[in-house]
Amino acid sequence: MRRIRVPGDKSVTQRALIFASLATGESRLRGLLPGEDPQATAAALRALGVDIPPFGGDEAEVRIQGVGLRGLQEPQDVLDFENSGTGARLMLGVLAGQPMTVTVTGDASLRSRPMRRVTGPLSKMGGVFREMGEPDRLPLEVAGGVLDALDYDSPVASAQVKSALLLAGLVSGAFVLVSEPHRSRDHTERMLRMSGVSVVSHEADGVWRVELRDPPGRIAPLDLEVPGDFSSATFFLALAILGGVEGGLEIERVGMNPTRRGLLDVLERMGANIGADPFEERDDGEPVSSLRGMPSKLVGTKVEAAEVPAMIDEFPVLAIMAARAEGVTRITGAAELRLKESDRIRVLAENLRAVGVRVEELRDGLEIEGGDHPLAGRVSSHQDHRIAMAFGVLGALPGNQIEIEGADVADVSFPGFWGMLEDLTATRT
Ligand code: S3P
Repeated sequence: MRRIRVPGDKSVTQRALIFASLATGESRLRGLLPGEDPQATAAALRALGVDIPPFGGDEAEVRIQGVGLRGLQEPQDVLDFENSGTGARLMLGVLAGQPMTVTVTGDASLRSRPMRRVTGPLSKMGGVFREMGEPDRLPLEVAGGVLDALDYDSPVASAQVKSALLLAGLVSGAFVLVSEPHRSRDHTERMLRMSGVSVVSHEADGVWRVELRDPPGRIAPLDLEVPGDFSSATFFLALAILGGVEGGLEIERVGMNPTRRGLLDVLERMGANIGADPFEERDDGEPVSSLRGMPSKLVGTKVEAAEVPAMIDEFPVLAIMAARAEGVTRITGAAELRLKESDRIRVLAENLRAVGVRVEELRDGLEIEGGDHPLAGRVSSHQDHRIAMAFGVLGALPGNQIEIEGADVADVSFPGFWGMLEDLTATRT
């Protein structure tokens, strides 16, 4: 069985950079993802006066001296988060609570994504935002200050919204209660606990409630090993399950956070032969395990709204697995996918069709008819890293031939993806 490791978790890396910057004292971070998204967040934090050393692909420890919860300095220039929705939205929460005026922007993809889901509730806390371009979009001017408490019912299950509000409460010392229709990923809550902040989450009346009570005036520095990114791991797990790696594959030290690993339940239902080493479930850090995938015969399945948040980034990879499964896979309740780095419902339908898969685009999902005939054609990544990688895996399966326009975008979350794919498939007999 082949063994690999994937780069550090993008969500955890982004949060680690932000928490370390806001801490009092020196944080020690290992395994940070050197992808373009965290690099953009690091650049923004440097522009705000935090001394963040360069971090690359090596295993070196990165030490960051925090400036405290209100110690950021007004930047000289616009903050550009490039492609990073997490960086921009979480930092809008942080900046809303800082006594300064800052302009936040991003690349064309990020400038087409909604921001009022964050600025709406932040305005209720007293944050002041000026939309400088289109309504509900970046660029935005943020005039921060001391914020009030918030009790907010979020219409979407979004970790970015929840995290932005928790961070705004943290930097302002304000009570925050966020309710969400389904539980979104909880990396922020775990990192708050690691930083010595008490945060309570529980289900009540069918919604998830996350509560930041009495936030302290300072947070402790982190000593953190970032786990491998579960979402990145799923591309190679899919490759192995679909028979693209002889003898199967083991992916070491993958983050197994229960609010992230929802795809595993779906894959088991589809008949995938997958396994993981036993691991400790904990709520103040991230559970980690080795993940194994063996060649398997898959059948179609149904995925509905309640399962979506814990696998929100895995629909491109699920779509290509559905295309190789027997029967139909029907995904509904996933309209949020239209608001990701690309409109993933439209782009997946378009690209699957372009390589010869029968697919129907639904308002809030997809219906994909699987099969085992060879797939060939040309697709575009639409500058979406996960679209590029999913079609890279599909194209690397024996018998398929897929050309991808804009494949370089994989660097957003997975530098080295193409080399690893080539390495795993080149040795096939
Ligand atoms: C993320 C939350 C999710 C996810 C994104 C990363 C995060 O977005 O799709 O890739 O790190 O908080 P939403 O909050 O929009 O669901």
